Amino acid sequence: MKNKKITRKITQGLYVLTTKNGGCIVDAVSQVSAGDNPLIAVSVMKKNYTNELLKDNEKFTLSVLGIDVNPEIIKTFGFNSMRDINKFENIETTVVDGVNIIDDSLGYMILEKVDSIDCDTHTLFIGRLVEADMFEDGEPISYGYYQEHKEDLLKVTTEKGKTAWVCTICGYIYYGDEVPEGYVCPICGVGRNLFKKQGE
Ligand SMILES: Cc1cc2nc3c(=O)[nH]c(=O)nc-3n(C[C@H](O)[C@H](O)[C@H](O)COP(=O)(O)O)c2cc1C
Repeated sequence: MKNKKITRKITQGLYVLTTKNGGCIVDAVSQVSAGDNPLIAVSVMKKNYTNELLKDNEKFTLSVLGIDVNPEIIKTFGFNSMRDINKFENIETTVVDGVNIIDDSLGYMILEKVDSIDCDTHTLFIGRLVEADMFEDGEPISYGYYQEHKEDLLKVTTEKGKTAWVCTICGYIYYGDEVPEGYVCPICGVGRNLFKKQGE
């Protein structure tokens, strides 16, 4: 492959996918049919807890994040698992049709699951749009913008004596003097060579 980076030029947005009892940040979202109730597809990593939840839940939502979104939302939903923390504890949400939607968003879509397709590392969940609302006609944050600005967006205060290593692919932060041999990013699975020491 000559240069896989070109795939990063596929324009995608940034969303919080929620379903009953969980949710996570996703960028792999696409409207795949037209009409009053179009189909929308979202690709979810098999290792994510959200994937497990979506197997059993028929309903899920996508909250569309704006360019000035509070980065805490990205950190909470994109770098933590609902297996370990309650993501809804510190982020303001409103329950619509039994599912939490993010208050600090441009609006939301409620989808009813119609199909799911195995895609190697991910499952593609396809939902039919049954409800939608727009809170604000603002500019959505794109995945490309996130990639360009993630170091600022995810700025962390390094604890005394500890060094922060940022995954250049997804922004996950590893603390320690060195990233250990054989370490793989728990979020996106890349190796230690793609971690950059913060501030360098
Ligand atoms: C910018 C960004 C984009 C992401 N895009 C996706 C995505 O499209 N699909 C996905 O499954 N996970 C994606 N993730 C990773 C999940 O949000 C992350 O693994 C999350 O911690 C899973 O939480 P859960 O275990 O509670 O489901 C993304 C994370 C970030 C920070």
